Amino acid sequence: MLKKMFSRRDFLKSSVVFGATSLLPFKLEAGMMRRETNSSSLQTTSPTGRMIAISSRNGLRATEKAMELLKQGADPLDAAIAGVNIVENDPDDITVGYGGLPNEEGVVELDASVMHGPTHNAGAVASLHNIKNPSLVAKLVMERTGHVLLVGEGALKFARAHGFKEENLLTEKSRRIWLRRKEILSDRDYWYPPKSDELEKELQDYVSSHGTINCCVLDAQGNLAGVTTTSGFFFKIPGRVGDSPIIGAGLYVDNNIGAAGSTGLGEANLLTLASFQCVNFMGQGLSPEEAGLRVLKIVAEKARLWPERIDDKGRPRFDLNFYLINKKGEYAGVTMWQGRKYAVHDGVKNQFKESAYLFKRD
Ligand code: GLY
Repeated sequence: MLKKMFSRRDFLKSSVVFGATSLLPFKLEAGMMRRETNSSSLQTTSPTGRMIAISSRNGLRATEKAMELLKQGADPLDAAIAGVNIVENDPDDITVGYGGLPNEEGVVELDASVMHGPTHNAGAVASLHNIKNPSLVAKLVMERTGHVLLVGEGALKFARAHGFKEENLLTEKSRRIWLRRKEILSDRDYWYPPKSDELEKELQDYVSSHGTINCCVLDAQGNLAGVTTTSGFFFKIPGRVGDSPIIGAGLYVDNNIGAAGSTGLGEANLLTLASFQCVNFMGQGLSPEEAGLRVLKIVAEKARLWPERIDDKGRPRFDLNFYLINKKGEYAGVTMWQGRKYAVHDGVKNQFKESAYLFKRD
């Protein structure tokens, strides 16, 4: 008699029967719960009716789109992702998705994560090549795998399997900036810059660029979600992964408390799991602004141990920014250094606001 095909679901069920659950990765069990029970019943919602979409300074179109979808009753994660997709697809934003500045070998390498409050689930991809919308791949990692994070070739194969179109993400502008950077890196190699300095200013602006977009939203039912997506550092060492795809660093959502996401120096965030800390402090009763500034203070104190990252007064030489919303619909943008804006739509108005800051510029 032919052996009956054993499906993954059957295997999971029989593993439970035979007491082999400890052999299973946690996420598989969580994934089963997600698909077979209504896990939103495990999360409290206390709708205030307020809807908020908050984003980084490159996210005004994202907050507009996210709010439009929230008003139509979309899932908060779908709303946030649709918002950032606009920026991922925009060749003129050279810090995210298509047209993002490449690694030192001239290859665009993308990181993204998504987190869905009602199911307390997340998905992420890192070092993904050739796919314009890593945030959509991250969502599929969440929905269609038993994992949270896929990287590199594995993430690309997964995206291909789901029918994502591969394309060269390096635009002409990004390629030229990359080439100029390579040519001026050293006067002891064989790469000579052209005589013209037309790209010089652009290069100065982006030579250590690390833009990113985060978008966190609260829907009218009190549900939260967020997404962070980036091309990471310009000229990074191939394989470098920043904070954006790391849950707790570039993004964290707790549907009972709030959501926080980050842009800025990913390494500072990775060493402090800053988005998780932001949400944790909101859970202890701090307002979004207080929570964000408290975490920036912690990061600034730790930074004193990183000599290459501080100025002569012991202050961070880097930017780090958080975008926070709590369950009540209170929100804040906070930044290490004075002078940065964030985008927010409060259901009525879509606008830039000044971030609260830790250090005033000299
Ligand atoms: N925060 C984005 C990065 O460091 O890659």
